[in-house]
Amino acid sequence: MLEIQRLSTLALTQVLNGKNLDHALTDARGQAKGQLTDHQRASLQDVGYGVQRYRTEIELVLQQLFAKKKPDPPLDALLMVAAYQLLHTRVAHHAVVSHAVEVAVLLGVPGAKGFVNGVLRNLLRQRDAFLKIAHETPEGQFSHPRWWIDKVRMQYPERWEAILGEAQARPPMTLRVNRRNNSREQYQARLKLEGIDATPVGMEGLILAEPVNVKQLPGFDQGDVSVQDASAQYAPELLALHPNQRVLDACAAPGGKTGHILERGNALELLALDKDPGRIKKVEANLRRLNVMAQCVAADAGDLKSWWDGRPFDRVLLDAPCSGSGVARRHPDIKWLRRAEDIPALAAAQERLLDALWQVVRRGGRLVYATCSIFREENQEQEESFLKRHPEARFLPIVDPLFHEGQIYPDHAHDGFFYAIFQKA
Ligand SMILES: C[S@@+](CC[C@H](N)C(=O)[O-])C[C@H]1O[C@@H](n2cnc3c(N)ncnc32)[C@H](O)[C@@H]1O
Repeated sequence: MLEIQRLSTLALTQVLNGKNLDHALTDARGQAKGQLTDHQRASLQDVGYGVQRYRTEIELVLQQLFAKKKPDPPLDALLMVAAYQLLHTRVAHHAVVSHAVEVAVLLGVPGAKGFVNGVLRNLLRQRDAFLKIAHETPEGQFSHPRWWIDKVRMQYPERWEAILGEAQARPPMTLRVNRRNNSREQYQARLKLEGIDATPVGMEGLILAEPVNVKQLPGFDQGDVSVQDASAQYAPELLALHPNQRVLDACAAPGGKTGHILERGNALELLALDKDPGRIKKVEANLRRLNVMAQCVAADAGDLKSWWDGRPFDRVLLDAPCSGSGVARRHPDIKWLRRAEDIPALAAAQERLLDALWQVVRRGGRLVYATCSIFREENQEQEESFLKRHPEARFLPIVDPLFHEGQIYPDHAHDGFFYAIFQKA
């Protein structure tokens, strides 16, 4: 536990300086004294992610406990880590406090021992009163930046609280069963034999009762199953694939949807693009694991002359780079890394990709546009302006109760996702 607090403090100090959470956690694991157990790795992940989910709440609680200004790094990070454990985990309170005191000594901050002990004990004494004050503002209640809260509130006046609340939940671990290798029922039975409980979602998804390490998933290395959120599993269905079609997956890495398309499709000719050469390697590795084939090319999908041979595609998937606002519970640090001004810039990049890729769709073919965002600028507004610019595009509505104008709302079983289907007349 002490080691987890120490490593979490190192990681959080970096995140507070603007570093990406996963990179900071990888760095922290590298500084572990000895080999971390699976349990320790999971705890480090939970604390790292948990602090980002509840960051504003924790800051506002601690603010009430500091007589003067907040302490300097790394003490501020250590107190946030311990406060998260006291407020949102079942770790024994006395262990959290006594270990935090020891970590303060290890961090070599003079005089910190008594200070850490005092702050955390006071927190425990008046926990509910401090939380009540922290929750007086929506920032404290939902731990999102103000601009993000205002946007969601304006765009979803009926459900903004539910949407922001979902972003604080721990996300489920969802699997996609490769029906080429086994039926969902068969795979569910294989999991059961390993003591792993799962419930069906969508057409080939299984939500695990508790997340596990992929190494524990039977047949993972043989491609019997992949990890993929339920909302992300709609792409092949919406593409309406037929045998022998020529398909483009324009922003493919790390290849989650590429693999799914190839598992589901029959004799498809698929080109997978991604502008990041490192990430295109991940697509290749993913496809090898699933034992399916595609041509994988590192290129800017919007720069047709750099990759297109002039032959049109029957189906194009544009799983566009986006704000990730629908998956904030999976990547809680994006709430703090994104800026309000990123949204128009992302929308402009999406528009450029849409316009370029529309040119490669054959007549009668379709383009499916997807984002893991809940912001209308990237979704419905993008769709509306595309239809204005391209009168030859026919909009095909998605008839499924899960979709609301193309939007899947984040809920216990789904990430926030958006899809639009355009057919070329
Ligand atoms: C949302 S992710 C794609 C996820 C992927 N479709 C999956 O299901 O695993 C967006 C991807 O777009 C890539 N990207 C961003 N701009 C691009 C561009 N102009 N051309 C091609 N790829 C791009 C990013 O490198 C990133 O891998």
